[in-house]
Amino acid sequence: MNMLFVPVLFAVLYQVHTLPLHTEEDEYLFKSWMSQYDKNYEINEYYQRLQIFLDNKKKIERHNAGNHKFSMGLNQFSDMTFAEFKKSYLLTEPQNCSATRGNHLSSNGPYPDMIDWRTKGNYVTNVKNQGACGSCWTFSTTGCLESVTAIATGKLLQLAEQQLVDCAGAFDNHGCNGGLPSHAFEYIMYNKGLMTELDYPYKAKEGECRFKPDLAAAFVKDVVNITKYDEMGMVDAVARLNPVSLAYEVTSDFMHYKDGIYTSTVCHNTTDMVNHAVLAVGYAEQNGTPYWIVKNSWGTYWGINGYFYIERGKNMCGLAACSSYPLPLV
Ligand SMILES: *[C@@H]1O[C@H](CO)[C@@H](O)[C@H](O)[C@H]1NC(C)=O
Ligand SMILES: *[C@@H]1O[C@H](CO)[C@@H](O)[C@H](O)[C@H]1NC(C)=O
Ligand SMILES: *[C@@H]1O[C@H](CO)[C@@H](O)[C@H](O)[C@H]1NC(C)=O
Repeated sequence: MNMLFVPVLFAVLYQVHTLPLHTEEDEYLFKSWMSQYDKNYEINEYYQRLQIFLDNKKKIERHNAGNHKFSMGLNQFSDMTFAEFKKSYLLTEPQNCSATRGNHLSSNGPYPDMIDWRTKGNYVTNVKNQGACGSCWTFSTTGCLESVTAIATGKLLQLAEQQLVDCAGAFDNHGCNGGLPSHAFEYIMYNKGLMTELDYPYKAKEGECRFKPDLAAAFVKDVVNITKYDEMGMVDAVARLNPVSLAYEVTSDFMHYKDGIYTSTVCHNTTDMVNHAVLAVGYAEQNGTPYWIVKNSWGTYWGINGYFYIERGKNMCGLAACSSYPLPLV
């Protein structure tokens, strides 16, 4: 058979078996998305991914046609179902994160209306990409320690997520299967240091611990937990001190976030439901809606150049359930 006919035949068979049909325009869009995100599939998977892509596209269009504070868009996850996304990118087990009594001491304010540590100085590293590994907690951890260290010393280092993936297991962390920033800070404190990205590069998979004490570059003196659900405590810390690590629950719509202030009526708000850890680098308010400015670890093409805004003041999706930051040892 002429090889040119094979894909056509598959296409015809596929369409006969699985309505709804897709148009040429749909396929054109999918193919340009594929080349934009460097995706390649076997022929069978191609049609399966095309269908998921079109389902996601429909969801995005329906959302954007409605009245919402945030918009959705196509991104590198647009060929995945939420179940697949969850398995590869999120924390899959409940984390033991609740600090019933934290040790952060709040002042009484007053607090500035907005703060953004990205513009206060050279305090926040570029957005990184965790890849298909549930290691968000390591990026939240390095992001926070990078910032507190830079604020204390004036030197912005790039710290090693992979050391946390490979070495922090004794502190209730589980490599690509999840962990918590507060537990990772404890590991760094007791382990006596974290190496740099350059000396311990990120691989997006678990490996042997290769920590070298003489190459440790950043250190933790103490771990500070903010009492669970004390979102004003987070405001206090971010306003006065430094960016703060937080965790919350990602639900299916978040995967498609593009810009605006994320809000949800379906996510949960309790400590046992958090499945993603990130870094609050500031806060502000827009048209009467207060929000957090948050650094994610899904690359710079996702969201607002890798960042997102999420509504502040309502413990949205449990974002105040388990926040923490380290005190740097310098
Ligand atoms: C939570 O703590 C329990 C008891 O210490 C432990 O068995 C479990 O593995 C922990 N869960 C996670 C995700 O670390
Ligand atoms: C901080 O909270 C974690 C749970 O997320 C807990 O294991 C740790 O003991 C707490 N640390 C302090 C200093 O309270
Ligand atoms: C969670 O949300 C419910 C419903 O909005 C609310 O009643 C409850 O107080 C919230 N709990 C926490 C811990 O924020």
